[in-house]
Amino acid sequence: MKEEIGVMYSEETLNKKIEEMAEQINRDYAGKTVHLICVLKGSIFFCCELAKRLTVPVTLDFMSASSYGNATKSSGKLKINKDLDEDINGLHCIIVEDIVDSGRTLSMVKKMLEGRNPASLKLCTLLDKPDRRETDVHVDYTGFEIPDKFVVGFGLDYAQKYRNLPYIGVLDFIEE
Ligand code: IMP
Ligand code: MG
Repeated sequence: MKEEIGVMYSEETLNKKIEEMAEQINRDYAGKTVHLICVLKGSIFFCCELAKRLTVPVTLDFMSASSYGNATKSSGKLKINKDLDEDINGLHCIIVEDIVDSGRTLSMVKKMLEGRNPASLKLCTLLDKPDRRETDVHVDYTGFEIPDKFVVGFGLDYAQKYRNLPYIGVLDFIEE
């Protein structure tokens, strides 16, 4: 099987959308410091582009959690591979995600972080696949709603490949 990638959102389109999302966050958090929680590895490209466009004071932390193997379906189990470095007690936190699929990862991460008493906790994702949702997790900031296709690039991988693509593409498997 050959892997083929077709462009869904160009770098320019993504950056325009991220600019709009940042403007909204700047308005919503005026006078506050935003603590961005980047969920590794997929969210790293989005998180950097978003952070660069925020004009409110920003602090950053990283965690790594997965409910995914190398397959194209979520396994449903949350594994914390790396926890946050900082205590989030009293901070205005935004969890930054690359994509919300079943929503299981995000709802488990959110529950865990809510137990640490942040001043507030919101969710922000670049991509959302609403057709695949299996939990009622509420997303506060969404870039694009996409159909049930497997996408790669801009941080998103297939078996750890393609994260470095500057655009979001749809991955197809072609018979050779
Ligand atoms: P969820 O727990 O089902 O919402 O899965 C979320 C995680 O699955 C994301 O953070 C991604 O790492 C991964 N994922 C879901 N859909 C895709 C996709 O289309 N391409 C690449 N990774 C995906
Ligand atoms: Mg992710």
